[in-house]
Amino acid sequence: MKNIVLIGFMGVGKGSVAREVIKHSEYITIDTDDLIETMENKKIKKIFQEDGEKHFRSIEKKVAHWLETSLKNTLISTGGGFYKQKNIKDIGVIVLLDSPFEDIIKRIKAHPNAVKKIKKRPLLNDLKLAQKLYDERRPEYLEVADVVIDVTNKSAYDCAKELLKKVKKYV
Ligand code: S3P
Repeated sequence: MKNIVLIGFMGVGKGSVAREVIKHSEYITIDTDDLIETMENKKIKKIFQEDGEKHFRSIEKKVAHWLETSLKNTLISTGGGFYKQKNIKDIGVIVLLDSPFEDIIKRIKAHPNAVKKIKKRPLLNDLKLAQKLYDERRPEYLEVADVVIDVTNKSAYDCAKELLKKVKKYV
């Protein structure tokens, strides 16, 4: 099986959908941000604060190379900016979780751990800047994606089922 690479904006639900997909398939899942935190022994927020975004992106590049050369049969959940990696299409089938900005923010705010979820994402702290980033990125997300799933008002379970159906012809 080819890898599945989940892309999409911060807070769109990549982790939740990934966890549902693995319950209903043979896939194993990993998360690029978790890998980076392990490699650096630091939380993403601290990496941004102490080492800067440029450093973070350089580790993402290293991870992207490793994913391409070393991984199979895996559902890879990625950070919101990971889709910019040059080799992204060589890592696996690209699945975009898509939703309007307002719905993504509504979704995060409704979460019991909302404050924590926003605080740990440096690029989500200023909502105006985050909206600008979303507007810049959305056409690029759509361009790189093989499969698009509109997650608005859908459960992670329904998104996972839709994903498994739609990726069949690619894996
Ligand atoms: C980022 C998204 C974050 C994390 C980092 C940068 C981005 O991941 O990789 O804070 O550039 O959109 P999530 O999409 O899991 O929040």
